[in-house]
Amino acid sequence: RHGGIVPRWVAVGSGIQSEAMISDRLFTIREEGDAVLILDQTLLPHQYATRHLRSLVDAAHAIRAMLVRGAPLIGVTAAYGVALALKDGAGNEALQHACDTLAATRPTAVNLNWALARMQRHLLPLPVAQRRAAAWAEARAIAEEDAAANRQIGRNGLALIEKVAHRPVNLMTHCNAGWLATAAWGTALAPVYAAREAGLPVHVYVSETRPRNQGLLTAWELHEAGIPHTLIADNAAGHLMRNGKVDLVIVGADRIAANGDTANKVGTYLKALAAADSGVPFFVAAPLSTIDRGCPDGAQIPIEERDGGEVRHVGGLDRKGVHATVAIAPDATAAANPAFDVTPARFITGIVTERGVRAPDELHRLFEDRS
Ligand code: MRU
Repeated sequence: RHGGIVPRWVAVGSGIQSEAMISDRLFTIREEGDAVLILDQTLLPHQYATRHLRSLVDAAHAIRAMLVRGAPLIGVTAAYGVALALKDGAGNEALQHACDTLAATRPTAVNLNWALARMQRHLLPLPVAQRRAAAWAEARAIAEEDAAANRQIGRNGLALIEKVAHRPVNLMTHCNAGWLATAAWGTALAPVYAAREAGLPVHVYVSETRPRNQGLLTAWELHEAGIPHTLIADNAAGHLMRNGKVDLVIVGADRIAANGDTANKVGTYLKALAAADSGVPFFVAAPLSTIDRGCPDGAQIPIEERDGGEVRHVGGLDRKGVHATVAIAPDATAAANPAFDVTPARFITGIVTERGVRAPDELHRLFEDRS
């Protein structure tokens, strides 16, 4: 068993050393020869397995079938998908085909489009013969920058946790916005890891996040890190907030519109409503690559509609410890399965980014600060 995650210097891409909280076993994506190695998140928390991506088809499948998931990691995987695609030719047509194929995998997380646009911008001006090597280097840079941004999100979010008067600080999160969803550190969980490093006791309420149960990934992550946490049914979140059990909510984001409206895993909006009514601060943690400045408000964010079978079935281990999927409703039951919802900016206390914490209506300042 792994003895908890300790921050240390390891390779995120290939050879480039970066400060990351991942180990040889606990990583989301890395290069291996001319392939990409990923952790298959569809099997967690019950089974640990890695998979090689060797082609554009492999990368697109890994994103679509959610072997990799989480907005930043989807972006990183897409970038590596472009690199893999250029193996058999790096002309404009091949590059366009790769980007179109990857862009069509999942619609909501803007990091996907962001990463593909960056790859195209970087590769198109180069001579064809140089593009393949340049694609690997750029994908690696995207992974490295994501890890570094999340590390800084952790530091910026820690300041918010420190402000809570009592110990342990009780946080609530939603879905999985930990290191599993990113190149390293996570977004919403990055401040939790930073708190642990700073010796500040935290306890995390983890909601299961039906129907895909990404909350179980969060519980697994926190268990691996030795951080106290409690798994709850999604429906218990409001009750806990109402009864003073939660000091702070921190969630991730899949796309933040220019006005601060935030798309995140379905159920986030209900948590934000409960937090607003209970006086609990509600923060969104995300890198700048998740902010879609071209999208004016939440109504313009495409929401992924997934198969109703995910609602009608649940998966887990049977009594013999064998993975099984069981139906909780007949196939004939109509089921709607929107994978994300939009939380209006007015319910968001602040957005934690690598450039600091901003109120949703001051998001534009994050970009001005740079200039
Ligand atoms: O459908 P998923 O698992 O890819 O969903 C994305 C997420 O992990 C969450 O919505 C998360 O809060 C934002 S990504 C850090």
